[in-house]
Amino acid sequence: MEKYNFVSNSEQETIDLGDKFAKDLKVGDIVAFYGDLGTGKTEFIKGICNYFNVSDIVTSPTFTIINHYVGTLNSKQLDIFHLDLYRIKNLDELQGIGFSDCIYDANSIKLIEWADKSGNILKENANYSVEIIQNDVEENNRTINITKL
Ligand SMILES: Nc1ncnc2c1ncn2[C@@H]1O[C@H](COP(=O)(O)OP(=O)(O)O)[C@@H](O)[C@H]1O
Ligand SMILES: [Mg+2]
Repeated sequence: MEKYNFVSNSEQETIDLGDKFAKDLKVGDIVAFYGDLGTGKTEFIKGICNYFNVSDIVTSPTFTIINHYVGTLNSKQLDIFHLDLYRIKNLDELQGIGFSDCIYDANSIKLIEWADKSGNILKENANYSVEIIQNDVEENNRTINITKL
């Protein structure tokens, strides 16, 4: 397990970290995001999507649960699934939205906010975890812990 710790002091710094992180991603990878509401998970994901030339608007799929973006990698089409499990109450609900079909799809990259709502599924299957923690004192300060699993 390799761990990397970063500090971000602005929304843009978090986006830039996401953009840099994306260089290591491979088709099929799953990235599990952890951290409270408003810490910057979606901003980090915007940076990842920017790296892959996604032109769709990237927002948390809080109600739709799954967003599908199309980007490019090495001049080929790349599918990216952006999930937000915030509203998921139990594992039955997860199966109802086609969660397994989505995360075991080998031909796309999966970015999943509130990964802890999947029980152990993402702990066991994710390739990376990205945890974002907000600093209580400085409003725009974030600690971002990235682990290659
Ligand atoms: N260092 C920072 N990194 C990321 N977002 C920040 C930072 N400082 C302030 N913000 C603000 O925090 C909010 C993060 O929102 P968002 O990425 O949607 O959170 P999440 O997806 O974790 O719920 C944005 O309004 C952003 O402008
Ligand atoms: Mg979000």
